[in-house]
Amino acid sequence: MSDIITKAVIPAAGLGTRMLPIARTVPKEMLPIVDKPAISYLVEEAAASGITDILIVTGRNKSAIEDYFDYSPEYEEKLISAGKGSLVKELRSVCTKANICFIRQLEPKGLGHAVYKAKAFTEDSPFAVLYGDDIIFSQTPVVRQLADLYEKYNLGVLGVKHVPKAQIMRYCTLDATPVGEKIYKVTDMIEKPAEDQIITDLAILGRTILKPEIFDVLENTPPGAGGEIQLTDAMKVIANRQSMIACDFEGVRYDMGSKLGFLTANVEQGLRSKEVGEEFRKYLKNLVGTL
Ligand code: UTP
Repeated sequence: MSDIITKAVIPAAGLGTRMLPIARTVPKEMLPIVDKPAISYLVEEAAASGITDILIVTGRNKSAIEDYFDYSPEYEEKLISAGKGSLVKELRSVCTKANICFIRQLEPKGLGHAVYKAKAFTEDSPFAVLYGDDIIFSQTPVVRQLADLYEKYNLGVLGVKHVPKAQIMRYCTLDATPVGEKIYKVTDMIEKPAEDQIITDLAILGRTILKPEIFDVLENTPPGAGGEIQLTDAMKVIANRQSMIACDFEGVRYDMGSKLGFLTANVEQGLRSKEVGEEFRKYLKNLVGTL
């Protein structure tokens, strides 16, 4: 079994009900941040972390995701004849950052159920999971931050953040003891805890590294919160059994599955844009004066 993380799974088959009505025809993972869909940033993060093989779990009405990671001859021909051949290389690099393959989750039965679809793909190796609607901008890619800890501790690793109480109740709570700066040992967790079940204000946000034994556990994980097979319920078994490591990662996270997350990601990344950032800043300054 390789201890180096080269495989990643991106579950992107959820219904995205918080992003209705657009989610009916545009997968939330394809919502743009400036000029690239959210999932493009995830593939870039994975590749920059040393991942070579990526499995994207999709579902019905999500074929735009597959099309995005394909060549686009119509645009390429146009760009070449307009003397903009260098842009073709840039467009193609979207598809060649890693070996990307796809599998369908026939019914959106939960994140745990989606991750289980990766059993054959992972070939008994540890792997990263990047939640398809969680975008994180950081100095060091978050999967790299987590993979370094996996290599150090040889335990599953969770990307976590301190979050306010109201959010903890929507995410999960961890029983976590510090073992280093911003690093914790996790021995228990509860998905969507009631107020009196909250253990700490640390919640898992968007990234994990898992060992292949997660699949045996998922096989026996009954539906949990919301009637879905929850990845957290399976990770809880692993945490109880052998503990996991939590990393309060460096980076800013945007929940592209929520309207506010989508808007803030676009405003902040828009301000950083080389192409339009300066003009956008001027526009926002004027706008703020009128509010
Ligand atoms: P979420 O819980 O945020 O996705 O899952 P959701 O179920 O689409 O959200 P709402 O509540 O309906 O708005 C995090 C990631 O896991 C994927 C989602 O696509 C998202 O990227 N997911 C979720 C699956 O792949 N399959 C599922 O059955 C559920």
